[in-house]
Amino acid sequence: MRIPFVAGNWKMNTTVAEAEKLVLEMLDRLDRIEGVEKVLCPPFVSLVAVSMMLRGSSVNLGAQNMYFMTEGAYTGEISPLMLRESCEFVILGHSERRRHFGETDEIVNRKVKAALANNLKPILCVGERLEENEAGKTEEVINRQVTAALDGVGPVVPSRSREQTERVSENLVIAYEPVWAIGTGKAASGEQAAATIELIRSVVAKLWDGNMAQELRILYGGSVTGANIAEFASQPEIDGALVGGASLKAEEFVSIVKHAAEIKARIG
Ligand code: PGA
Repeated sequence: MRIPFVAGNWKMNTTVAEAEKLVLEMLDRLDRIEGVEKVLCPPFVSLVAVSMMLRGSSVNLGAQNMYFMTEGAYTGEISPLMLRESCEFVILGHSERRRHFGETDEIVNRKVKAALANNLKPILCVGERLEENEAGKTEEVINRQVTAALDGVGPVVPSRSREQTERVSENLVIAYEPVWAIGTGKAASGEQAAATIELIRSVVAKLWDGNMAQELRILYGGSVTGANIAEFASQPEIDGALVGGASLKAEEFVSIVKHAAEIKARIG
């Protein structure tokens, strides 16, 4: 039984003061929602402030990116060693990183390995672009991205702390985010997303094994809102959502998390 998972990716939004205000507006309500893992991913500069606010709550913290080296002369970069003081998760391979900052499959792979080696859990993003989708290349692109990002990873990962399990399926989450659905208001349909997620699960099964693939959580992301979360959460294949724009509105994010938890509890 996979525990549902909803993460909010705030992207390059909120000052530290705004981040604190947003957390204050939703933390109590989020904290009380059971049966779903909840993660907030604010910008780097707000991580410490937000981590202090989340302390003692059931809400976890994630970063939006990191570099793959642990320290050194890499001006402007943030390392896994720095993040693991405050974060449990880190979003890696987001399509905006691939598109605006030239992240290749190889870079994403190095980041995934570095995160796991440093006790951070990657939320690995994959997804096809509009022209790839229209050219019928979704399967090919997803296959390539997942295989490349997970090259040399698992099924057992290095574990530094005693409590940490070594099963990669418990230390990694994949988010399927079709690029054409991100920030466009044009979400994929539940069936479309579920079909691609099934494909991702089969790629993972080939890389590791079937059990591991069944344990791994795979989310949908791209224009998820309070109004359409039911369409995704009601698909047994889809384990939750990575939410961008709607995660910046307290009411709406709480409603997304609540609906996801309720629907998943109902369909078992
Ligand atoms: P969106 O972004 O919900 O604003 O479409 C999702 C994401 O990029 O993670």
